[in-house]
Amino acid sequence: LRLAVMASGAGSNFEALARACGDGRLHGHVVVLAVNRADCGARDRAGRLGIPCQVIDHRHQPSREALDRALIRLFEAHRVDLVVMAGWMRIVTPVLIGAFPERLVNIHPSLLPSFRGADGVGQALAAGVTLAGCTAHLVTEQVDAGPILVQAAVPVLADDDRERLHARIQRQEHRILPLAVSLAARRLAQG
Ligand code: GRF
Repeated sequence: LRLAVMASGAGSNFEALARACGDGRLHGHVVVLAVNRADCGARDRAGRLGIPCQVIDHRHQPSREALDRALIRLFEAHRVDLVVMAGWMRIVTPVLIGAFPERLVNIHPSLLPSFRGADGVGQALAAGVTLAGCTAHLVTEQVDAGPILVQAAVPVLADDDRERLHARIQRQEHRILPLAVSLAARRLAQG
């Protein structure tokens, strides 16, 4: 299973996936990382892990569709089977979704369908819920609404701020994302 990861930030989920491949929890290889910022932590991790990383700066692309086409070219060149959006902070278009039907997985820091969109963690805190969590799901044209693959819940504690709650959620993201990729691959194999 040839995997690509798309990231914009620290890249802890990217690293968790790469490590799951390395220790056999996930039968696959992360063959390429795409980032949209040259200065993101994910890129440094790719260097340390020895995984090829391509910067595709959205500011140099005329449109969201053009950015997606550049991603598709990269993934096709690497003969990628499945693509994981792990903290990709750009909205993807039907161009990318259509190129990887059922093959595009996203990780979102809330228990969907609650708290879609930006700042799922802050939304959970503002709502006063006592259970928060994360969701790995297939990407469809509706943002944060595709078929759910795996979820995990964590408690919200009385003295939580966004950072503490997000850290607790992220430990679960790192656990469920490899599971979700395995499930997505199994769905593909079953047709
Ligand atoms: C994760 O919390 C993910 O749910 C959200 O962005 C964050 C990325 O974190 N979409 P990292 O870059 O993988 O550390």
